[in-house]
Amino acid sequence: MRIVLLGPPGSGKGTQAALLKERLDVPHISTGELLRAAVRDQTSLGMKAKAAMDAGELVSDELVLGLIEERMGAADVQSGYLLDGYPRNLSQARALDDVLGRLDLPVEKALALTVDEEQIVTRLARRAEEEGRSDDTEEVVRNRLAVYREQTAPVAGYYADKRLLVEVDGMGSIEEINQRLMAALS
Ligand code: AP5
Repeated sequence: MRIVLLGPPGSGKGTQAALLKERLDVPHISTGELLRAAVRDQTSLGMKAKAAMDAGELVSDELVLGLIEERMGAADVQSGYLLDGYPRNLSQARALDDVLGRLDLPVEKALALTVDEEQIVTRLARRAEEEGRSDDTEEVVRNRLAVYREQTAPVAGYYADKRLLVEVDGMGSIEEINQRLMAALS
């Protein structure tokens, strides 16, 4: 399956992708993870991306597209993919269609997790305590949510227009949500 996973920060995209990747036997490709690895490794891309990530802003389309083009060109993607965190605005959605069109690997389904904002704030506050991710502070989470509403939320409409969008309730236990996602794919 070739899947795009959508949803606000803290909606469980990464958590669910880790489960779906095993069940569907496809690679999980997270631009957030790729960028955090670049920051950790202090690559030139990581150094360019860090300030935007720490502020909860989007990294430039150009930088992230470079990452995606490289990753989607790898052999394991031929069996399918689970994209998490990309596309994050309409320009990225169109760029992704171009890349995937060239590779003949178009998106088959866009799954959008819906979660109450109160629940998001609770989840990310807990992760801030447990893991100390630098963009999980209250102020940065507020900005990530604002960026999501302004720039990323319209991406769901992009896939709805293509009849590829399925909205899935992202509230409840991790296993319950996983079962809903599997049902949406069947
Ligand atoms: P990214 O890593 O993509 O962050 P995000 O979208 O804000 O997502 P999160 O990882 O916070 O949440 P998630 O939905 O994956 O939820 P998770 O499963 O982790 O991006 C980070 C930054 O990188 C961006 O702000 C931007 O700067 C940059 N970036 C990335 N992609 C980009 C792009 N395409 N263009 C430009 N910039 C880009 O769960 C969250 C927490 O909740 C966890 O602790 C988890 O254990 C817990 N949890 C999950 N499910 C449940 C549940 N059902 N019940 C209770 N707790 C749960």
